[in-house]
Amino acid sequence: MSVTEQQRDKLVERLFGAGLGMAEVLTVYLGDTLGLYRALRDHGAMTAPEPAKEAGILPRYAREWLEQQAAAGILTIDDASAAPDERRYQLPEGHVEPLLDPESPYSIAAFCKSFVAVAGVMPEVVAAFRSGGPVPWDSYSRDMVEAQGDFNRPWLVASFGTEYLPSIPDLHERLSNGAKVADVACGVGWAAISLARAYPNVTVDGYDLDEYSIEIARRNAAEAGVADRVTFEARDAADPTLKGAYDFATVIEAIHDLSQPVAVLGAIHEMLKPGGTLMVADERTEDAFTAPASETERLFYAYIVLCCLPSAMDDPSSAATAPSCARIRSSATRRRRGSTRSRSCRSSTTSSASTGSTASLLR
Ligand SMILES: C[S@@+](CC[C@H](N)C(=O)[O-])C[C@H]1O[C@@H](n2cnc3c(N)ncnc32)[C@H](O)[C@@H]1O
Repeated sequence: MSVTEQQRDKLVERLFGAGLGMAEVLTVYLGDTLGLYRALRDHGAMTAPEPAKEAGILPRYAREWLEQQAAAGILTIDDASAAPDERRYQLPEGHVEPLLDPESPYSIAAFCKSFVAVAGVMPEVVAAFRSGGPVPWDSYSRDMVEAQGDFNRPWLVASFGTEYLPSIPDLHERLSNGAKVADVACGVGWAAISLARAYPNVTVDGYDLDEYSIEIARRNAAEAGVADRVTFEARDAADPTLKGAYDFATVIEAIHDLSQPVAVLGAIHEMLKPGGTLMVADERTEDAFTAPASETERLFYAYIVLCCLPSAMDDPSSAATAPSCARIRSSATRRRRGSTRSRSCRSSTTSSASTGSTASLLR
């Protein structure tokens, strides 16, 4: 077989597998959104009419979905030879956590949901590639906002306030004594909530452009019992009137989504008290473009092409820096014209600009 034929076969095989995976991701979204997995978890083995009734869907649809899920190995079946409506389907114990626990580090339902959100705006993405215009974040639908919230939720809820922040002793001390904190581009609020839970003397103000994110953030804060110390407001982080007296600010996984990251960093500088601290946590991309790249890097690139860059191209002067947070970091630091010192923070890197008010933490 020639090299060209080998390349051909390999590509076809690879994209066939990817397409099959994508198709199954869409069916996982159905089970998640319609509550079918929840019904199977709550009731154990079920015949097709039972989860259909529980989820309020047509039994014929339920039956086909259950068969597909069993064929895909996501559900198990007790007797494949039984009549269609008498087969009993079960969600295996090991599949419950990834599909139904959004705070688990193994949670995968949000990942599936994000691709459905992206697929829904592909015509707009194509048009944006042609026109050079944006696909605004809110065009990606509520699914993307919810998926984004659930992406970071496991580590923010489990360790941001209780492990990451305490690993920076001077910051930990300031937060323990009481501080005013801003969570910039806060999304659905998990960083702000985690921080407020870990430090009972802090108050946190979360800001995000997206109204739906703020609506969910307020609900999350109320459910977490911290709404008296954590507020959320739909606002542009570059708004210069946000000057204030913050001791600490965070920007979690958002710098690379901003159309004007340096302007926002400047505005945050104004929000901070002298000697205040900014923590930027973002995707740990490779420092330089590599090809072929690791799976993680390939995933980042796919999100960047399909979502981060289009949502950041909201005006012709957009900095459009989405591909590399490292490049944003060095650009922002250079603008401060100061020397930079770095120190290790467990698996992360923290660097502070000479003003002492800028630090970045790259996961
Ligand atoms: C990838 S999400 C991250 C959200 C959240 N920090 C998290 O960890 O889930 C990026 C967020 O940046 C917000 N955003 C983008 N530009 C903004 C701006 N200029 N001011 C405030 N928020 C902005 C978007 O609305 C979106 O919620």
